Amino acid sequence: MTVLSAARGYALWAPTYAAETAVSALETSVVDSLDVPLAGRRVLDVGCGIARRLADARGAGAALAVGVDLTPGMLAQASDGSLLAAADVRALPAAGDAFDVVWCRLVLGHLAALRPAYAELARVCSPGGQMIVTDFHPRAAAAGHRRTFRDARGELHELEHHVHDEAAHRAAGERAGLALVHRREAVVGEAVRGFYERADRLDAYERQHGLPLVLALLFVRRD
Ligand SMILES: C[S@@+](CC[C@H](N)C(=O)[O-])C[C@H]1O[C@@H](n2cnc3c(N)ncnc32)[C@H](O)[C@@H]1O
Repeated sequence: MTVLSAARGYALWAPTYAAETAVSALETSVVDSLDVPLAGRRVLDVGCGIARRLADARGAGAALAVGVDLTPGMLAQASDGSLLAAADVRALPAAGDAFDVVWCRLVLGHLAALRPAYAELARVCSPGGQMIVTDFHPRAAAAGHRRTFRDARGELHELEHHVHDEAAHRAAGERAGLALVHRREAVVGEAVRGFYERADRLDAYERQHGLPLVLALLFVRRD
């Protein structure tokens, strides 16, 4: 199996990306558990993909919901009516301090270096604003898990992934002026058993039970 760059991989995955996976389901519930208020706030989702989480932000009463993503094909699948633009997390098309809540969800593992991304994410976050970063968990990578997907023809592909441990995220955040206030992990358990069952992979479920698949970090931008 060849390892695809994020740009190539997500262009291929885009038409079927809406189907939730164990990772995406765990990611959503761990972000929800951080309880960051969205009502009346300006929300930016960097690496928003098909913008499905922005639909949730709009439903929660966000004053503004904006998404950017590297892959035009992912943005083309969006249907919720948020303001969207094609851009790289390292060069965001937004003014400084423009957002109260910044998300960067399951994106940074696709980058070799964290610092340029954190610097840019922090720049567009308002002082006192909140930033949520999630990543494929380093322990899952260490256990041999890879970021894979099936395209519309059912062919399996692997996506390029760089392992960044929690200390590296924290250090890059600190350097960008962000203070880590919460960290959570989402582990394989009953909530995602159905994904394994439907894929006829209950053996894998038993082996992975308790393994963290997603790391979630909540930062606040220092004044
Ligand atoms: C796993 S998907 C997550 C999508 C969305 N955050 C979600 O949770 O549904 C990762 C997304 O990151 C985007 N991406 C990868 N590298 C990026 C970069 N350098 N800048 C912006 N987006 C990037 C991909 O195009 C893809 O849509």
